[in-house]
Amino acid sequence: MSTQTSEQVRPVPTAEWVTIPDLVEDPYPVFARLRAQAPVHWVPAVDRYLVVGYHAAHEVELDADRFTADEAGSLMKRAMGHSMLRKDDPEHAVERQSYGGVLRPRAIKAHWDALFQRNAQAHLQRLRAAGPGADLVAEFAAPYAAENLRQICGFHNATAEDLQRWSQTLIDGTGNYADDPDVWAAAQRSSTEVDTAIDEMLVRLRHEPDHTLLSGLADLPIPLEAVRANLKMTIGGGLNEPRDAIATTLWALLSHPDQLDRVVADRRWADAFEESIRWVAPIGMYPRQATGDTVLDGMAIPGGARLGVHVGAANRDPALFDEPERFDVDRPKVPHLAFGGGSHFCAGAWVARASVVGVALPLLVGELPDLRLDPASPAQVRGWVFRGVTHLPVLWS
Ligand code: HEM
Repeated sequence: MSTQTSEQVRPVPTAEWVTIPDLVEDPYPVFARLRAQAPVHWVPAVDRYLVVGYHAAHEVELDADRFTADEAGSLMKRAMGHSMLRKDDPEHAVERQSYGGVLRPRAIKAHWDALFQRNAQAHLQRLRAAGPGADLVAEFAAPYAAENLRQICGFHNATAEDLQRWSQTLIDGTGNYADDPDVWAAAQRSSTEVDTAIDEMLVRLRHEPDHTLLSGLADLPIPLEAVRANLKMTIGGGLNEPRDAIATTLWALLSHPDQLDRVVADRRWADAFEESIRWVAPIGMYPRQATGDTVLDGMAIPGGARLGVHVGAANRDPALFDEPERFDVDRPKVPHLAFGGGSHFCAGAWVARASVVGVALPLLVGELPDLRLDPASPAQVRGWVFRGVTHLPVLWS
């Protein structure tokens, strides 16, 4: 429990006016209005306490004793099984350690950098052959991210298309608040396919080990159910996010040619990437649950409350970021929350940076001359739990 006195504690306001269609279309005006009133709101439309302030979001991330990741009635658990992302330490830590060094800088340098280069070059050749125009989401960002993840995980028995289908249907299950039976059926089909692929690969990799995630897991005493759930969570989280980060960064840079020029001149791809995921966090919201009555950034939270920690909203908190709605590669460095925080801080952040900052962005902008948005077909952006550019039509010369 926080040390604030009862006079300082405010009741959480209810925001009846928030609707899901408004959030899906463009959540940022909604967040700005919410934040101006309080850092936490009860939002009936989403059936959660929505955490929109930076300090409140960060406080939740850092305190698993007061805010557990093991949420009751979790749709993610139903869609993917009980992964480390919905567990607290020490159980979580054991499973996170089971990933070993596969997603870390040394392995990236030894194995994955070259793979990212090869994959990006192959997709670039295809773009060039079909160009001079393309939807960079469908024809580059999605298949590139899928192929990278397929190889990192060690799904030598599946295709990048399988990974894309698994990822989308499992994520759809995780967000199936409408309880649509077709969505559950598709998620279940993918879940079964992933189980079969894992079982097959674990046997193969025990005899022919390599440097992939599944190979590292093959000989560890982690229960098979946990391996399966963790891989499904990683398929869900390791594909769409780099895809969205590539597309959003390019969209932002191509919409701000002056900033693009500065980024190209000084190779400031990392600044562009970090500002882009601050501006539009690919994983906007994730759940936590209050373990007891508590106070969060001055707001009274009842025990058992289901929170939606919105890092996308926190990343635009004007208390931390000047003119937060503006994409600005030159803004002063303040840590954003797009990779989460605390013990669940994204395990794939190095992979994301290496594949997006180190390879995809410089390659596309450097190799597609006069790359520009297609004026006849505007980019489309959607979502609020996950948000990203869904279509990015571009032209080059
Ligand atoms: C720009 C790209 C990415 C973003 C913005 C992102 C964001 C996040 C966030 C916000 C979390 C924490 C969620 C929570 O606390 O509930 C997370 C966790 C995680 N991410 Fe990422 N991610 C990205 C790329 C990746 C990639 C490429 C991989 C794998 C190759 C990956 C693997 C994971 C895993 C395994 C976790 C769970 C960590 C744990 O529970 O300890 N992510 N990510």
